[in-house]
Formats: sequence, C-alpha cells, structure tokens
Amino acid sequence: MRSIQLTAFGLDHLHDAELPTPRPGPNEVLVRMEAASLNYRDYLLAIGQLYRGVNLPIVPVSDGAGTVQEVGSAVTRFKPGDRVTTFYKSRWLAGSMRPEWEGADIGGPAEGVMRELACFDAYSLARAPAHLSSVQSATLPIAALTAWQALEQARLTTGQTVLVLGTGGVSLFALQFAKLRGARVIVLSSSDEKLARAKALGADIGINYVNDTQWGSTVYQATGGGVDVVVETVGAATLGQSLEAVRMHGFIGLVGFMSGIEATFSLTKAILKRVQLQGISVASLEMHEQMIQAIEATRLEPVLDSVFGFGQLREAFDHLVAAKHFGKIGIDFKA
Ligand SMILES: NC(=O)c1ccc[n+]([C@@H]2O[C@H](COP(=O)([O-])OP(=O)(O)OC[C@H]3O[C@@H](n4cnc5c(N)ncnc54)[C@H](OP(=O)(O)O)[C@@H]3O)[C@@H](O)[C@H]2O)c1
Repeated sequence: MRSIQLTAFGLDHLHDAELPTPRPGPNEVLVRMEAASLNYRDYLLAIGQLYRGVNLPIVPVSDGAGTVQEVGSAVTRFKPGDRVTTFYKSRWLAGSMRPEWEGADIGGPAEGVMRELACFDAYSLARAPAHLSSVQSATLPIAALTAWQALEQARLTTGQTVLVLGTGGVSLFALQFAKLRGARVIVLSSSDEKLARAKALGADIGINYVNDTQWGSTVYQATGGGVDVVVETVGAATLGQSLEAVRMHGFIGLVGFMSGIEATFSLTKAILKRVQLQGISVASLEMHEQMIQAIEATRLEPVLDSVFGFGQLREAFDHLVAAKHFGKIGIDFKA
C-alpha cells in the first residue's frame, strides 16, 4: 500500500514508500485513510526538533480521518463503514493525564497517518462528526481539542473575554468555541486581511500585532482591566504581552512555543496579577468525545485554509512554514 515515510530528519527526506498491507489484531481497527491535516508538531518532528524517541523511518503526520474497513475480533466500539478520526494522545482515555501514558502519540513516536491503510487500537480512534467531510474531520484531533481544553481549563463562561494569538489552527478553533460559549473574542494577527476574516467568524476586536507591538496594554485598556483568558499559542515572544493583556486573577493557557521554548517574563507581573499559568497539552478521549458532540450539535465547521493532495506533503509543509495560512491545512488522499 502507498505511504509516505520520513527517512531522515529534514523536509527533503519525505519519500513515497510501499508498505505491506496491515492486518488488525484483536483490539485493532483497520482504517482506510482518506484525509490528514497538518499541525506545527508535524513540522517540528519532520525537521528533527523537540521530539525524542522517534525511530526513523516513520510515517509522518498525527491527525487523520477515514473509514473503518475491518475490526479485530474483540472490537465492539466500531464497525466497518464507520467514519473515524485518529485520537493523538492514544493512551489518555479519561481523567487527568499520567506520565506512563506518554510515548504513544500518533505521528511520532507511533506511526502517523500518511498511508492508505492503517491499524489503530480501537481507543486511538474517535467517531467523526456526521456533518463534516474527512478533510474537515481530520482537523479536529489536535488543534480543536487543544483549543477546547484551554477553554475548559479556564472555565470560560458567557460574557467573558478571550484573547487568541494569530489566526492558525488552534487560535481559530479557540475563537469558534469561545463564541459558542457566548464569550467576547479579541484576535491578534500580522495581517489586516486575516483580521477581517476573523471578524467574519465572530471576533469582536482585531489587533495587528506588527503595527501595535505593545498590544498587551491596548487589550488591557480596550477591556477595561484585561481579558479573562489568553490562549497562548506563541510563547517566548508574546508571554510578556499576554501578561499585560490578562486581568487580575486571569488565566493564561500555555499552549504553544512557536517563538522558542525558553521564555523570559516578569514574575512580579504574574504574581501581583495573581495570574493562573496553566500548561495545556491536548486532552483525553472522553473530552474529545464531548467536543465532537458539541461540534455536531452546533454544526460547527472547521476553518480550512487549503487542501493539498497526498503526493503534495512537502508543498503542504512549505505552506505551513510560510505562515500565510488562515486556519488549518488539509490533505485529501483522494485528490
Ligand atoms: N500544547 C498542545 O497540546 C498543542 C496543540 C496544538 C498546537 N500546539 C502549539 O501551538 C502553536 C500553534 O499551533 P497551530 O497549529 O495553531 O499553528 P499554526 O496554525 O501554524 O498558526 C501559526 C500562527 O501563529 C501566529 N503567530 C506567529 N507569531 C505570532 C506572534 N508573534 N504573535 C501573534 N501571533 C503569532 C500567526 O498568525 P497570523 O498569520 O495571523 O499572524 C501564524 O499564522 C504551536 O507552537 C504548536 O506546536 C500545542
């Protein structure tokens, strides 16, 4: 069967590969993969940054969707014909994450989704929303669930204000989910055109962070004392401004590290504002299923920036790195 493998670190080492057709074990499900979506981690893994314990060659990319082809003898959770997505943190079924559940993430260290057929443990899969296509569904497992978890951890309530940084995958899901909860949303972007699109999605205020480098105090003033929640997807370059933007006793969900993994920020600002700094790393299958229920009930549609073909993974990565995208980058295996 057709697949793509990363044979060495670096985007030049993504190669077509013929792999044996897998057979499902008793607790496994054989899925015909139909779509994938890119996350920033896929890029970091491909270039050899951050992720240890990855053995090469590996089939890259964490998030995918497809149709169940066959189930193992002990599987009752799915049946042939069911539409599913992968579930990235494949051992975290419910409750709080435990250290011993690390190390099995789909797309590194475990094999990823860029293959025609794949066997997964039945609990490494989730039902795809009925109203979404496979490409749309493939955007959900990491980006949507992370945004959902950040707002859950923040206990966001109606009328509160959320700040999202940029218009990438996590931020736009955070925008959409925050609006579902009746919150106000402030969006930052490097592009006025993207800010206009974010407003069309429901954003209340847009700020161009290139023109306004002191956006933290702009947000603080615009909200009369700071936002309730910041979904911090950028990290080192923005944490200081996020601390300016948040209200006393506010919540900053530490999600991303696009600008580096070591951050310097004012401890006195954080202490005197009594800010809650909460690390966010996706969520459990139980929470994923709650999110899917909400997405179906509200018929929420993920924001897809662009869709590439199976053979265009390199081009899709180049598009991600160029950071011109608005929302998610999809890969349609049928294209
Ligand atoms: N902890 C977790 O579980 C988890 C899960 C998913 C992702 N992440 C992390 O979260 C981060 C974002 O992921 P993603 O998939 O949403 O990325 P993405 O789709 O590539 O989004 C990138 C966007 O970030 C914005 N940005 C870049 N620098 C910025 C800055 N200085 N200020 C404000 N915005 C800035 C840009 O928006 P504009 O183009 O609008 O300027 C850019 O398009 C990554 O670090 C990723 O690894 C973590």
